Amino acid sequence: MRTVFTVTLQSSGRQFPLRPGETVLEAAQRAGIALPYSCRAGVCGSCKATLLEGHCEYPRNPPVALSGTPASQHAILLCQAVPTSDLRIEAREVTSVEDITRRQLDVVVSDKRLLAPDVVGVWLTPAPGQPRLQWLPGQYLDVLLDDGRRRPFSIANHPGADGVIELHVRHVAGGGFTSWVADTLKVGDALRIEGPLGTFVPREDSVRPMIFMAGGTGFAPVKAVVEHFIALGTRRPMRVYWGARRAEDLYQRGLAQGWMQRAHALSFEGVISDPEQAPAGLRVGLVHEAVLEDQPDLSGHDVYMSGPPAMIDAGRKLFVDAGLPEDRLYYDSFDYAPDVLAQILAGRAGIAER
Ligand SMILES: Cc1cc2nc3c(=O)[nH]c(=O)nc-3n(C[C@H](O)[C@H](O)[C@H](O)COP(=O)(O)OP(=O)(O)OC[C@H]3O[C@@H](n4cnc5c(N)ncnc54)[C@H](O)[C@@H]3O)c2cc1C
Ligand code: FES
Repeated sequence: MRTVFTVTLQSSGRQFPLRPGETVLEAAQRAGIALPYSCRAGVCGSCKATLLEGHCEYPRNPPVALSGTPASQHAILLCQAVPTSDLRIEAREVTSVEDITRRQLDVVVSDKRLLAPDVVGVWLTPAPGQPRLQWLPGQYLDVLLDDGRRRPFSIANHPGADGVIELHVRHVAGGGFTSWVADTLKVGDALRIEGPLGTFVPREDSVRPMIFMAGGTGFAPVKAVVEHFIALGTRRPMRVYWGARRAEDLYQRGLAQGWMQRAHALSFEGVISDPEQAPAGLRVGLVHEAVLEDQPDLSGHDVYMSGPPAMIDAGRKLFVDAGLPEDRLYYDSFDYAPDVLAQILAGRAGIAER
């Protein structure tokens, strides 16, 4: 296949070729180079990088996550940018995920339990004859649907010898796959998955204290990363915040409280946004506000956050305003799947053109 342009990464000097029509992220993945990403649809901003030389265009989705970014920052979205010349970019490389090969495999549902009124826990084991999935704590997988569409879900545990994968699936109103999981999926059913995906993984090359912020089922990858640091015996302080509307939505609160006995310096706070639904002892408010009330200056921290796009957007803006360098903010935004976002964005563009 003909290559058209070359991308050079400023910090490491690594280079990779692009095929016609490829995004920078796709070409990097093909070359085995891990650059940060989450939604793959242009809306979450986790793949934001700086363009130092060259030009690109956005023929797929519009770069929604760049809105409000001053042109002087020369920002690009790696998941959508298709180069029209050679590029030189400044992007964070996540080398820790590069050693693990992404693969498709068949799995079987070994357990399914209601965790909260609208959340089911689903446990998957490799189908007979299939290899175990390898992943780093915090990564996600795609469930492959029969019609070629995919639905992303974070893996809530860290890899073990039994190969079991734990998912926390929230039932989305009007959502095709999550409705089917809630109503129809049963133990023994087979699914096809692809993984591991994503770059929301532990950064072990830091000595800074860590803050973890989860919203709803955003608890899943946070759980995996926190349990990884606990297992490592880290002495770095960890403050974990988990926000939800009602107390029953903090569906593994007992487990999170138990971490405080197992770790050197770990605190856990459940934060309830609906004051009518908060029992005594639980904090009331928005979870990102609780983080900032406790730590108004974030300049000395690493922050990991995962959950609904509105929470992620608030954290991206307010935590950086509170002194957190952008390259120490790691996040997964639980947006809808790329095909749905593409349709929604195309609909918006259609309305705007009329
Ligand atoms: C990296 C990542 C990790 C994630 N991890 C988790 C996790 O661990 N747990 C979890 O619960 N969720 C997670 N999510 C979110 C999860 O992937 C979505 O909730 C899921 O894809 C919804 O699938 P669905 O088929 O049920 O809904 P869909 O059928 O995709 O519909 C989603 C919503 O969009 C609406 N919609 C669909 N098509 C259109 C359209 N054309 N125009 C307008 N509206 C439309 C539907 O009515 C519905 O409200 C994650 C997302 C990402 C990106
Ligand atoms: S905007 Fe590119 S991965 Fe989300």
